[in-house]
Amino acid sequence: MSRSERKWDHIRYALETGQKRLTAFDDIQFIHQSLPNINVSDVSIHQKIGELSLSSPIFINAMTGGGGEKTYSLNKQLAMVAREAGLAIAVGSQMSALKDKSERYTYEVVRKENPTGVLIANLGSEATPDLAKAAIEMIEANALQIHLNVIQELAMPEGDREFSGALKRIEMVVKEVNVPVIVKEVGFGMCKETVEALSSVGVSVVDVGGFGGTNFAEIENKRSDKSKAFFNQWGIPTAISISEASHASSPLTIIGSGGLSSSIDIAKGIALGASAVGFAGYFLKILVEEGIDSLYEEISSLHDGLKIIMTALGAKSIFDLQSAPLMISGQMHHWLTQRGIDTKTYSQRTIK
Ligand code: FNR
Repeated sequence: MSRSERKWDHIRYALETGQKRLTAFDDIQFIHQSLPNINVSDVSIHQKIGELSLSSPIFINAMTGGGGEKTYSLNKQLAMVAREAGLAIAVGSQMSALKDKSERYTYEVVRKENPTGVLIANLGSEATPDLAKAAIEMIEANALQIHLNVIQELAMPEGDREFSGALKRIEMVVKEVNVPVIVKEVGFGMCKETVEALSSVGVSVVDVGGFGGTNFAEIENKRSDKSKAFFNQWGIPTAISISEASHASSPLTIIGSGGLSSSIDIAKGIALGASAVGFAGYFLKILVEEGIDSLYEEISSLHDGLKIIMTALGAKSIFDLQSAPLMISGQMHHWLTQRGIDTKTYSQRTIK
């Protein structure tokens, strides 16, 4: 099967397998405030991540490109929505276009449609500094994502079997490119030790890409007759992964993603320690099944919902929301306790 056909398979099966809501966000409840003492008009959802200034904490996460006309059309529409809604947007892995120049247009369209927006390039951890620079240059990117997808590769019969040296290569890329590097997972989450290892080589932003939404083990298992079903439940649920990352010994900027589909998911992700949040499968489904206008309306409604939730909590900014008190129960409480993370840091704090 060609790389281009595989891209379309991923889209097809991502739509079919969908979002399972196994993110652990349901184990979190905000502590209600009867006297929030702010107005909806006081709330700002602007955010700064390093040198990237964002009008929204939501961004469209890496999905596609490199699969000819169909992926060109999806990227074009995603870029238009990102432009209209003021969201940052990442493209899918650009390796296909680095290997085959005829696929470049499927990525370049994102910059063409969104000349002044925040765009994020994307490659796997096999990337060398030269490939990373070429991917950034291809879409004049403002940042680069490097994805870690060991479980997806292992689940794929034709996938990689060699994973040594990834951290060293990431270190070289971070040193040599002149945009921020975001290291991301693709739906299996990151534990705090992974985040600490990344931080030790100079990475300053991670996207936890947690478990509970799009499931690439399930997608690859559907594509193969040699199913590795034991990976279907593998991974760290998104809410838990954000908390793990925010308890790393060396703090770094966290993007919360994996299975997000509502304003309350966004608010909980930020309150757990994320500075921004990524959406992939949920947006893809709306775009493909309902069209571009519906996706734009959904993003407006996510923004409105987030402002309303922030008002209820008395949080005027994303920074405030990061210290809103919340209660953690169930599986998430058990996990964090076993991992030595004190959930009282969340339940006994207040917004200053
Ligand atoms: C992805 N994702 C992804 N990630 C990445 O870093 N490079 C890529 O090329 C792709 N390709 C891709 C294709 C499709 C069809 C989907 C749905 C997703 C993973 C994506 O960015 C995200 O990390 C996961 O999908 C988990 O988030 P959601 O989908 O649960 O919001």
